[in-house]
Amino acid sequence: MKNFITLADLPDFDQTLHLAMELKKQPTQWDSMGRGKTLGLLFFNPSLRTRLSTQKAAQNLGLPTMVMNFSQESWALEFEDGTKMSGLRSEHVKEAAAVVSQYCDMVAIRAFASLSDKEKDEAEIVLKSFAQYASVPIINMESATAHPLQALADAITLKEHQTPHKPKVVLSWAPHPKALPHAVGNSFVNMMGYMEADFVITHPEGYALNPEITKGIECTTDQQKALKDADFVYTKNWCSYEEYGQILRTDDQWMITPEKMKHTNNGKFMHCLPIRRNIVASDGVLDSPNSLVIQQSQNRIYSAQAVLKQLLENE
Ligand code: CP
Repeated sequence: MKNFITLADLPDFDQTLHLAMELKKQPTQWDSMGRGKTLGLLFFNPSLRTRLSTQKAAQNLGLPTMVMNFSQESWALEFEDGTKMSGLRSEHVKEAAAVVSQYCDMVAIRAFASLSDKEKDEAEIVLKSFAQYASVPIINMESATAHPLQALADAITLKEHQTPHKPKVVLSWAPHPKALPHAVGNSFVNMMGYMEADFVITHPEGYALNPEITKGIECTTDQQKALKDADFVYTKNWCSYEEYGQILRTDDQWMITPEKMKHTNNGKFMHCLPIRRNIVASDGVLDSPNSLVIQQSQNRIYSAQAVLKQLLENE
């Protein structure tokens, strides 16, 4: 594995999932593996879970970290080639990536979608530029279109709650007052491609995810029908993909409530966090014993650790 940009970069998804679950049992069994190396964490956007869980994962491997909040602490970066840099951007990614590569043996990056330019977002300019100009592996800590560390953590959580039968897993859109990216939804869909499950996506009219990603997957605008007998309900907001970046509705008809969960098969509730209570899901859902959201965030440590370990072994 040269870089970890999407789940498809993993040499073997099932083996990585197994490794992550083994690491959870004995987190510090390879605690000298990272000795003498450094992991750089570059944030162009805020984070709670990703930042701390990736640092914790690195700590478990004896791998020191350096963190930079690019949006507040560093020079604004230019990504366009051949630009006359007379504006606000003081440093080109060509130099920045080369410089960071001298200090770090791996660089993890968070850079969200702009939600204003679909073509640019889908080009993954920040991550791909770093991958092009850095001489060390690049790790995706949520990019414009993907959040593979979250999806791997979600796979661990699904596995930990494995049902005796083939489970029904539902990805349900939920309301949100802000326009949110598609990264978590996209990577969850990709991850479900590796799992044995009946998988259904439900969303209101106008909120279909990228059809290239959902090709071959059952999608319905009937949330009630989708939730029936579900073993897992994964809830997430995303803005419209077709009317890119737009919020088409803000009513609470799609919020997940205890009444809706009654139609499931005593279904478990999942969300990547952060979550807006009583907007995306009501208190009764989040405070129920069927909510797995805290466990999901715990599993972020082991998904990151499984990826970091494999990258360290590559060297
Ligand atoms: N789920 C997730 O990535 O959380 P943060 O945005 O807090 O890192």
